[in-house]
Amino acid sequence: MLMPLTFFILTFCILVLLVVMSYKIRSFKISREEYFREFGEEDPKKSNISTALNNVYALIVITSAALIFSLYIIVKDTIYAGHLMEWLNIVVRLLHITFGIAWIGASFYFVFLENALNRTENVREELAGNLWAVHGGGFYYLEKYKIAPSQIPKHLHWFKYEAYFTWLSGFCLLFIVYYFNASAMLIDKQVLDISPLAGILIGVGSFILAWFIYDLMCKSPLKKNIVLFSVTGLIIATAFAFGYSHIFSGRAAFIHFGAMLGSIMAANVFFVIIPSQKAMVKAAKDGKFLDPQLGKNALMRSLHNNYFTLPVLFVMVSNHFPSTFGNKYSWIILIIITIGTAGVKHWLNLREKGKLSIWILPSSIVILLAAAFLSAPKSNNAKCESTVSETEVYAIIQNRCISCHSDKPTDPAYTAPPNGIAYRNINDVIKLKDRILQRVVITHTMPQNNKTNMTEEERNIIKCWIEQSK
Ligand code: HEC
Repeated sequence: MLMPLTFFILTFCILVLLVVMSYKIRSFKISREEYFREFGEEDPKKSNISTALNNVYALIVITSAALIFSLYIIVKDTIYAGHLMEWLNIVVRLLHITFGIAWIGASFYFVFLENALNRTENVREELAGNLWAVHGGGFYYLEKYKIAPSQIPKHLHWFKYEAYFTWLSGFCLLFIVYYFNASAMLIDKQVLDISPLAGILIGVGSFILAWFIYDLMCKSPLKKNIVLFSVTGLIIATAFAFGYSHIFSGRAAFIHFGAMLGSIMAANVFFVIIPSQKAMVKAAKDGKFLDPQLGKNALMRSLHNNYFTLPVLFVMVSNHFPSTFGNKYSWIILIIITIGTAGVKHWLNLREKGKLSIWILPSSIVILLAAAFLSAPKSNNAKCESTVSETEVYAIIQNRCISCHSDKPTDPAYTAPPNGIAYRNINDVIKLKDRILQRVVITHTMPQNNKTNMTEEERNIIKCWIEQSK
C-alpha cells in the first residue's frame, strides 16, 4: 500500500511540474514569435522550441497514465475500484464524443465544401472554385485552389488532432469498458470459449489486419472501379462482422466492428492524408512540381472516411439497442445498417452536389427498415400450462439476476447495480417487466453473457408470467 501511495504522490508532483513547464515554454514561444514577427524574420530556433513543447505534452500524457495506474493499484480490491472505472469511463467517453463530433463535423463540412463549390462563375484561373456562406451572424467567402497557392501562408490550419484524439480516446474506452473487464464484457462463453488475453489479441490484431487489407485495396487497380471497390469492401466488412459476432459477446462484436472502421479512418488521416498534405506544402514551398495524384489520393481516403461516419456513429450508440446486437443474426443486421446509413450519406453527398437522385434515399430507408423487420421478436410458441406465481418468478430472479442487480452486487465486475437496476422485491421486477421481457425472453441479452446460466425453461416461466399478467 505504501509503495503505490509514494508512487502516486511522486507522479502527481512530476505532473504538476510538467504542466508548469508546458506553460512556461508556451509563453516563451509566443513572446519569441511576437519578437520575430515584429522584425519580419523567421525564428531560427522555432522548430526546437516546438519539439520541446511536444515532448513535454507527450510526457504529460505518459505521467497521467502512470498516475491513473497507481490510483488503480491503490483502490484495487476496495469498494472504490468500480467507482474509479466508472469515472474513467465518464471522462474518456466525454472526450471521445467531443473529439468525435469535431472530427465528423469537419469531415461533413469539408465534403460539403467540396460538393457545393461554385466551379464555374467568376472563378480565377488558379482556383478550383469558391463558396459564399453565412453562419453565426457573419458572411464567409472561401476559395479552393486547384493545386496550391504560389506561396504557402504562414498560418495554415490543419485538421488532424480531432482524428488522432478521437482514435486514442476510443482505444482507451475499449480498454476501460471491454478489455479490463474482458471476462464479463468481451467474452461470451456461449459464443466462443476463449481466454480474455486471446480475445484482446484477436481484437487488436483484427484492426491491424483490416487496415492492411483496406490499404492494399486502395493501392490496387481496384480503386479505379468504384462499384467493384465498394462491393469488395462490403464483402470484406461482412466477413469481419461475421467473425466478430462468432468470437465476442454481442455488444463487443458491434463495438469491434465500429472500432475497426474507426481505426481505418484514423490510419487514413495518419498514413495518407496528412503525409500527402505535408508533401504538398513542402513541394509548394520549394517551388517544385506538385504531383496532383497526392491530393487525389488524400481526397479519395477522406471521402471513404466520410462514408464510414454514419455506420460508426450507429455502432457508438448500438449498445443501447439489444434487439440489434442481441439478435441471433446480429452480423447481418449490422451490415444492413451499415449499407443503409452509408446510403443515406451518399444521398446527402449527391444532394450537396445539386444532383437529385430519386431512388437512393428511398432504397436506403427500405434497407434500414429491413433491419427493423429482421430484428423484430420471433413469436415464442412455448406453452404456458399452469399459472405462474410471483414467488416462483422472484426465486428465478434471485438465482440468476441479483448477483449483479442488487444494491451490493456480489459479482466482482460490479460495485453498484448496473444501470441502477436492483431487484429488491417482486415489485421492482413488476415495474420493469417490459424491459425484462425484451432482455431475457426476446433477445436473450440478460443475464449478461448468461453468466449465471439461466435455462430456457426459466426464460419461458418469466415469459408466461408476463403474458398472464397482461
Ligand atoms: C453479470 C451481471 C448481470 C446479470 C447476472 C444480470 N444483468 Fe442485467 N444488466 C447488467 C448490465 C451490466 C446491464 C447494463 C448494460 C446493458 O444494458 O447491457 C444490465 C442491464 C439490464 C437491463 C436493462 C436496463 C435498461 O436500462 O434498459 C435489464 C432489464 C436487465 N439487466 C435485467 C436483468 C435480469 C432480469 C437478469 C436476470 C435474469 C439480469 N439482468 C442479470 C448485468 C447483469
